[in-house]
Order: sequence, then C-alpha cells, then structure tokens
Amino acid sequence: MTKVAFYDTKPYDKTWFKPLAEKMNLDITFFEARLNKDTAILATGNDAVCIFVNDEADKDTLDILYKQGIKTILLRCAGYNNVDLKAVEGRFDVLRVPSYSPEAVAEFALTLLLAVNRNVHRAYQRTRNFNFSINGLMGITLSGKTLGVVGTGKIGQAMISIMQGFGLDIICYDPYPLKDLKGARYVTIDELFEKSDIISFHCPLTEETKHMVNAKTISEMKDGVILVNTSRGAIVDTPALIEALKEGKFGGVGLDVYEEEDEYFFEDRSNEIISNDELSRLLTFPNVLITSHQAFFTTEAMKAIAETTLKNLEDSINGTMDPKNTLAKRK
Ligand SMILES: NC(=O)c1ccc[n+]([C@@H]2O[C@H](COP(=O)([O-])OP(=O)(O)OC[C@H]3O[C@@H](n4cnc5c(N)ncnc54)[C@H](O)[C@@H]3O)[C@@H](O)[C@H]2O)c1
Repeated sequence: MTKVAFYDTKPYDKTWFKPLAEKMNLDITFFEARLNKDTAILATGNDAVCIFVNDEADKDTLDILYKQGIKTILLRCAGYNNVDLKAVEGRFDVLRVPSYSPEAVAEFALTLLLAVNRNVHRAYQRTRNFNFSINGLMGITLSGKTLGVVGTGKIGQAMISIMQGFGLDIICYDPYPLKDLKGARYVTIDELFEKSDIISFHCPLTEETKHMVNAKTISEMKDGVILVNTSRGAIVDTPALIEALKEGKFGGVGLDVYEEEDEYFFEDRSNEIISNDELSRLLTFPNVLITSHQAFFTTEAMKAIAETTLKNLEDSINGTMDPKNTLAKRK
C-alpha cells in the first residue's frame, strides 16, 4: 500500500482526503506539523509527502526527504513558491493542483473588495453592539470606475468575467498576454497602477513580482485606490503599505495573504501575545480587512483539490503524470 505523509493538516483535510484515500487504497498519516528541515524526519517510511502553502520544501528539507526514500512531493495547492525546484534536482516527482476552482478565489477577491469598500466588516461589529450609526462607513460606487487586474491566468480571467456585471472599465497586465482575452484590455503595469481605482492581484509570487507593491509603485497609484491581494503576501512590501496607509493613501485594502503569514495564518493565536508588529499595525487600520488565506476554501474546491492530489500520486506511481500538474520529474 502506498504511504503518504500529510503535513500541516487541519480537520477539514481529513474530511476530504480520508474517504478518498480509503477508496484508492492509500495509507495517509496526517501530521499537524508543517514540513521543514526539523519535521522532515516524520516522513520516514512513507513513499510520498503532501504539503500546503506554508510548508517549506527548501534544499535542507529536500535532502532529508530524499535520504528517507521519498519519491513524490504532492502540493495540495496551486502556488509552489515554497518549493526549491532547483534543489529538487531530478530526485522527486513534484505535482500540484494548478486549477481547482479559480472562481472560488476570484469570488473571494470580490468579497474582500465589496466588504472593504462598503465597510461591511465595521458595520457588522457596530450593529452587534446596537450601534446603528453609519458615520464613516461610506464607500464608492464601483460602476464607472477602473479595475486593474494583475495576472490574467485562471483566477485573473475568472475575476474579469465576474466583474463584467459591475459596469467597470477593466484593464489588465500580464507579461504573457492572452490573444483572446475577453472583457478587458491589456496595458503596461505602470499604466495599470496609474489608472486603476481598484487593483486586484492574481499573479504568482516570483522574483519579478516580489514587492511589486512598494513605496514607488504606491506613489504612482491614485489616492483612494482599493487594493485586493489574494495572490501571495510578498507581492506587497508590508512596511511600504503601512506607511502609505498612515498617510491615508488607500480607500481600502483587502488582504487574504500576508508576507509573514506562515507563523499565524490557519492557526488560532487568540490566546497569545502577537510579536509581529507589522501584522498588528495592519490590523489597527479601519480600512484594512485581513482574512487568513481562505480564498480557496469552498466545498467544491476542497473536493477538487483532494481528487486531483491523490490522482497525481497515482499518476506518479504509474509514470503517467499530467504535464499540466507536473513541476518536476524523478530521473
Ligand atoms: N488565496 C488563495 O487561497 C489562493 C488560491 C489559489 C491561488 N492563489 C494564488 O493565485 C495565483 C494565481 O493563480 P492562477 O491559478 O490564476 O495561476 P495561473 O498560473 O493560471 O496564472 C498566473 C498568471 O500570472 C501571470 N504572471 C506571471 N508573472 C507576472 C507578472 N510579473 N505580472 C503579472 N502577471 C504575471 C502569468 O503569466 C499567468 O497568466 C497563484 O500563483 C497563487 O499564488 C491564492
């Protein structure tokens, strides 16, 4: 029976993966610990490991996994910036789930946009305390505004398609533009930053996109711009964002991801003292809405993630891997 060590698991992972694994005759051990060089040893005796967005598959960790005979690394997510693909060096099959429900993520980007713009997060707290004042809760009408979409892959396209009904002018930037993109037109990234009233990020985290939102690019944006990031935290230079927030630059900022989220997101830290000053500061701004990397989190997406992840394992064993899902192959 093929054995898989699952890292960074939560109860909902078991709900979706366990019944499917039983059907497919796979033996899963669920660990709460995240994968890193200290926890890699837990995978001893397994054929594969399965990881999520904040596990660390760096060189040291991969060396330990290789020594233990791990053959396959399964990512139960789309982004793979946490895997050192150079250090994989033909030692593992590495597979991901490139598309499970782009609409789920795009719908959540829209949720953040609408909530932060119309101050739903604050209105909810007020009415719970019988405060029915609407002072300070004014937003902007989206119709007639310009939306900038950075990255026109699966999620970016879903976002463009959803936003068609809002009467927005939609502009977008992608270094690999599509020939047949519908509902939006490509502009340069500078133009997108200058012209957009709302900017939503749907690009991967790469050397090029890291800190794409920085002091300089923020200064090029319109005053009152609304930023939504459901991509990866490090797209945004957090200290620069905080400085600009202090100056009143933004109409709103919706973040589902945060540069240093790995210590906090997905965990209950409500009984602890938070040592991350930037996260704490961000949470003090009334026009910032932070969620804990939940854009993917729908029933449909979890089902699709479980099915594709375990199919990827089967394909790795049988040598029939889908090129779309394959990041690296074992020699
Ligand atoms: N918050 C969540 O729950 C969640 C869930 C899934 C994915 N994501 C993030 O969303 C990202 C996008 O996902 P996707 O499925 O649309 O990926 P995708 O690969 O289909 O699309 C990414 C697009 O970004 C473009 N791109 C690359 N470099 C760029 C740059 N410098 N500037 C602008 N665009 C650039 C690519 O050309 C591509 O078209 C993922 O990489 C992941 O980081 C977040």
